[in-house]
Amino acid sequence: MNPLNIHHIGYLVKKIEKAKQTFLALGYCVEQDTVHDDIRKVDICFLIKDGYRIELVSPAGEDSVVSGLIKRYKNSPYHVCYETDDFETAVDWLTANGFIAVDTPTPAPALGGREVIFLSNASIGMIELIR
Ligand code: NI
Repeated sequence: MNPLNIHHIGYLVKKIEKAKQTFLALGYCVEQDTVHDDIRKVDICFLIKDGYRIELVSPAGEDSVVSGLIKRYKNSPYHVCYETDDFETAVDWLTANGFIAVDTPTPAPALGGREVIFLSNASIGMIELIR
């Protein structure tokens, strides 16, 4: 499998604007301001600090894909997202090695429409892969 490179850490937050202001006070910069993802019913904003990219994800409505997660995790990091040169091979390798796809590749408006898939692993929880 080609290398997986970290793209961002997904950070679940109840109130995206308050969370953004707190991260800004810690020295983060806004890389991409809040975008509404109507497919997943979430609001998403990308922040950068010291070369690390954090994605704030906040539920936008009761039917949000993260409504259940946020009840369980509160405000907390919940996935690491990776990029790779060969998406198909990576998905095949991951699903053969203990990762279970929790959805199918779906366009992500906050990533310029690129498709992403989420996979879950019993030892490390959730990861995201960008096509
Ligand atoms: Ni993400």
